[in-house]
Amino acid sequence: MNNIYWLIFLVSLSCSFVQPQGSYEMATCRLQEVDNSGVTGTVYIYLKDTQKNQYDLSIKVEGVQGSDGNREIAVLEYANFTHPGMIFTTDATKTYSCPEGSPTPTTMEGSLGNVNVVSNKIDQTKPYYQQFTLQGDKSLIGRLFVLKKSASNCTKYNDVDPILASCVLGIANGQFIPVGNPAGSVYTSGAINQATSTSAMLTRAVCKLTGILGNNVTGWVYFDENGTFIRVSANEIKGLNMTMAHGIHIHQYGDITLTNGTSVGGHWKTGSQTHGLPPSTTRELGDLGNICAYDYNGDAYYQYQTDYMGQISGQDFGTIIGHSVVIHIQRDNGTLDSYSSRVSQCVIGYERNTNQTPLFPKRIDLSTTPQCDKITVAPNPSTTGTTGTTSSTSTTTGPSSTTTSTTTGTASAAMSFSIFLLSTSFFINFFCL
Ligand SMILES: *[C@@H]1O[C@H](CO)[C@@H](O)[C@H](O)[C@H]1NC(C)=O
Ligand SMILES: *[C@@H]1O[C@H](CO)[C@@H](O)[C@H](O)[C@H]1NC(C)=O
Ligand SMILES: *[C@@H]1O[C@H](CO)[C@@H](O)[C@H](O)[C@H]1NC(C)=O
Ligand SMILES: *[C@@H]1O[C@H](CO)[C@@H](O)[C@H](O)[C@H]1NC(C)=O
Ligand SMILES: *[C@@H]1O[C@H](CO)[C@@H](O)[C@H](O)[C@H]1NC(C)=O
Ligand SMILES: *[C@@H]1O[C@H](CO)[C@@H](O)[C@H](O)[C@H]1NC(C)=O
Ligand SMILES: *[C@@H]1O[C@H](CO)[C@@H](O)[C@H](O)[C@H]1NC(C)=O
Repeated sequence: MNNIYWLIFLVSLSCSFVQPQGSYEMATCRLQEVDNSGVTGTVYIYLKDTQKNQYDLSIKVEGVQGSDGNREIAVLEYANFTHPGMIFTTDATKTYSCPEGSPTPTTMEGSLGNVNVVSNKIDQTKPYYQQFTLQGDKSLIGRLFVLKKSASNCTKYNDVDPILASCVLGIANGQFIPVGNPAGSVYTSGAINQATSTSAMLTRAVCKLTGILGNNVTGWVYFDENGTFIRVSANEIKGLNMTMAHGIHIHQYGDITLTNGTSVGGHWKTGSQTHGLPPSTTRELGDLGNICAYDYNGDAYYQYQTDYMGQISGQDFGTIIGHSVVIHIQRDNGTLDSYSSRVSQCVIGYERNTNQTPLFPKRIDLSTTPQCDKITVAPNPSTTGTTGTTSSTSTTTGPSSTTTSTTTGTASAAMSFSIFLLSTSFFINFFCL
């Protein structure tokens, strides 16, 4: 009987030496209803045949009101759900049309034609040839996928027709393609998703947070540029617990098809990086530190700028597009074991270039992000010296501002909360008077 265990052991040992093979190109998004339409679903777009430059689009949708028949799908320019712009194209000479099964290299990249509703559902896979890509400037990654209320007449985009559901196309996590979905045909275990987005022109991105499981954590995260830095800002994030800081990271996959936060994968990184906190320059690319809630109504704010994600030059800015932002329930202490459950997630997509910068209330001291030191961390004479006490030195964004902080693992939640209230009132007094 023991032989069988040896066999299993040897098989798993030899398996562990097999290198992960292959690569694929895939975008995905989870359709969320617009204006209480009740329409939800998932979309996968993936490279099916390299020779023919064929990408298949697999769409599964429920809750479409009205009769059976055609409805338009399209990819629009911006991940701004209220102002998504027009049909995405890289070339003004391209035309609007409904691609139906033959090569359409002169059709606008985002002009995808119609899909078919049967009994309030859509379950369809459509091929597209030589029209768009999932790499480079023609990539659909980071753009807004929309399902419209009416069919397209295939001569002109109807921008007045309401959008039933929309989502930002992100880099898919092949590991979590549902069993039976046609997208599964191009994924093998361990294969690497090569889908990327690059754009030499756009230097602004947005990400609309949605809660994970029972957590109702909502708001927007913005990315823009300041000289050679990428600046990450979050303004009025609702629903976070005020008694503690919350880890915030860019995760590898822009895949929020699983509502429990599992499909975003781990932190965005290149091969050799280990987890840390900014401004350490050995951290993972996606390590953004912590976001903290300052207001009496619990709104959270964040701002940090870095050139660690790649110096701004248009193309580099494109490398953050298509990944996700995730907020965690607890403080990220910069150690491997300080990961905690995920409470909110979103896919990073393009926004038009504007000079708009998020507005922050004057009383908010953004120099405390990305560590939130001043709101939760304070030396307490009665508890220092007890077990679990650690000290750390951290440098905040300014070139010369350094804060030293001491954290105590034994301080009770109630204690931290009163410290938080005290420091909050201090800041309110300090900045408002
Ligand atoms: C969406 O676009 C509008 C119009 O440009 C702008 O006012 C708004 O701030 C944008 N929203 C986001 C989240 O970027
Ligand atoms: C097609 O739809 C567009 C947008 O609604 C409209 O402007 C155009 O006149 C229509 N063309 C035809 C041939 O019906
Ligand atoms: C979630 O929070 C938002 C903003 O705080 C609120 O408007 C909304 O009603 C909440 N939704 C649920 C389901 O609790
Ligand atoms: C831009 O970056 C510089 C440091 O390089 C900083 O002093 C300045 O405050 C930043 N501007 C904004 C608007 O964040
Ligand atoms: C906030 O965190 C404290 C301390 O961990 C916990 O007791 C409380 O239940 C949390 N509240 C919410 C709304 O999550
Ligand atoms: C998330 O959901 C997936 C699919 O239902 C499931 O396989 C996975 O175990 C869940 N993960 C967690 C952490 O709940
Ligand atoms: C981070 O460190 C603090 C202070 O030591 C501790 O209370 C907290 O539990 C740690 N967070 C996690 C997620 O390990």
